This record gives sequence, structure tokens and C-alpha cells, in this order.
Amino acid sequence: MGDRPYTILSCGVSLDGYLDSATDERLMLSNDADFDRVDEVRSENDAILVGAGTVRRDNPALLVRSEDRRKSRVDQGLPETPAKVTVTATGKLDPEAQFFANGDCEKFVYCESNSFSPARTRLADVATIVDGGATITMGAVSEDLHERGVRRLMVEGGGTIHTQFLTEGVADELQIVVAPLFVGDSRAPRFVGDGEFPWCADHRAALIEARPIGDVVLLRYALSERARDTVGSSA
Ligand SMILES: NC(=O)c1ccc[n+]([C@@H]2O[C@H](COP(=O)([O-])OP(=O)(O)OC[C@H]3O[C@@H](n4cnc5c(N)ncnc54)[C@H](OP(=O)(O)O)[C@@H]3O)[C@@H](O)[C@H]2O)c1
Repeated sequence: MGDRPYTILSCGVSLDGYLDSATDERLMLSNDADFDRVDEVRSENDAILVGAGTVRRDNPALLVRSEDRRKSRVDQGLPETPAKVTVTATGKLDPEAQFFANGDCEKFVYCESNSFSPARTRLADVATIVDGGATITMGAVSEDLHERGVRRLMVEGGGTIHTQFLTEGVADELQIVVAPLFVGDSRAPRFVGDGEFPWCADHRAALIEARPIGDVVLLRYALSERARDTVGSSA
């Protein structure tokens, strides 16, 4: 296995484990103080990854918002805001989505070979399109990003993506924010789907921090040896 970036999975969930509502309206799980914390974490990473489903549904810009943090990155010789990365099988992404349209940073689309050619035609002006092969794994994406210089990767969902990073065992840290509300509708997307997770009854993840932030709670778990060695010892 090649090297891969230190990878943080970040998300907000309801008390019943959902990432969003089942309705057309996007569910706000977090609060302003936590959005600011997420902004800080973004600013500390080299790249932010989301699934194509999140690009389509949430249309996120994925930028560092704070002027001070952007300036601090530039002072360190970094782009104002981290690179953006997405993964798609169909390649069906809108070149005018905020993912592509905003931010003076690199944008990468990992696309299955089947749809690589049409995706390149559609998106080549707005992003680097990478042929991810017949089947894309998060391990392979991580290794390729490492080869491109990404040393710290933040993964912001959605559930399909989190599931794969967790079941493949290629995440170092989980930062999950629990919001004080229920969704109560099993049609809504969950934090993770079915799968064989390395953390189970016989192998529990290591809690490294529990922090109330207004009415939500941040839980941080170390998922790898290197997370336990670095973050675990400083938390
Ligand atoms: N609460 C939070 O923190 C948070 C954060 C992010 C998102 N969300 C929510 O999560 C929901 C979206 O989650 P989701 O699970 O439906 O979507 P997702 O994980 O964002 O994206 C799934 C899509 O990514 C592509 N993909 C994933 N794995 C792939 C692989 N191995 N190879 C090729 N393509 C792959 C496919 O795209 P194609 O369909 O293009 O082939 C797939 O349909 C939304 O409701 C959003 O609001 C919540």
C-alpha cells in the first residue's frame, strides 16, 4: 500500500444518526460556532473531499470563509483555500456548481473509466478529471492525492463516502457533531450505510475528545495508530 494523507472524516448528525432530512429542504444540523470550527479544520487541510451526491444536493462551495485564516494560509505559501476533490461513477456533475465555480484552488474529479470521456468533455475546463479505473476505492483516491502532494485530507461526506473511508480502513480521525434533534424518517440519508466496519464490539474506536459547542457536541475518535500517537497524546 502506498502512502496516504492524514484523513479526517467530518460530519454532523441528528440524534438518530441522519445526515439530512428526507425532504427537499436541506437540514441545518450545526450552529454558527461549529461552522466556524469546521472552517478552521478546513483551513488546516490540503484538500477537502465530498461525494458527487453532496455536490448535487448541497451545492457546497467548500471554501475557507475566514479572511484571517485565508491570509494565514497565503503567508505560509499555500493557496487561500484547500483543493477540492469529488468522486463520481456517472460523471454527471454541473460545471456551474459552486464546487467548480468558486475558489482559486485545484479541483479534482475522480471518475470511473466508463464515464471518463464524457466527464472530461463536460468538466475539463473547470477541473482536473482523473480516470479512477473500473472501480474507484477511497484507498486508491487517497494514494493518488498523496502523490499529488496532499498530506492532510478532510472528508465532508456524504454517507456513501464516509462508509467507504471507514470500511476500507483509510480514515485516521472521525469528527462527528451530534445535533439535538431527531429526523425520524428512514428515507433520509444516514451517516453510514451497511458494511464491515473495523470498529465493532471487540474493537472499539478510541475517543480523543468530547466538546460541547453551544447546543451540539463534537466527538473526536482516533481511527488509526498514527492518530492515537499524534492527536491522542495532545488532546
Ligand atoms: N450532515 C453532514 O455533515 C453532511 C455532509 C455532507 C453531505 N450530507 C448529506 O448527505 C447526503 C448525500 O449523501 P450521499 O451518500 O447520498 O452522497 P455522497 O456520499 O455525497 O455521494 C455519493 C455519490 O458519490 C459517487 N461515489 C461514491 N462512491 C463512489 C465510488 N466508489 N466510485 C464512484 N463514484 C462514487 C457517486 O456519484 P455519481 O452518482 O455521480 O456516480 C455516488 O452517487 C445529502 O443529503 C447531503 O445533504 C450531510
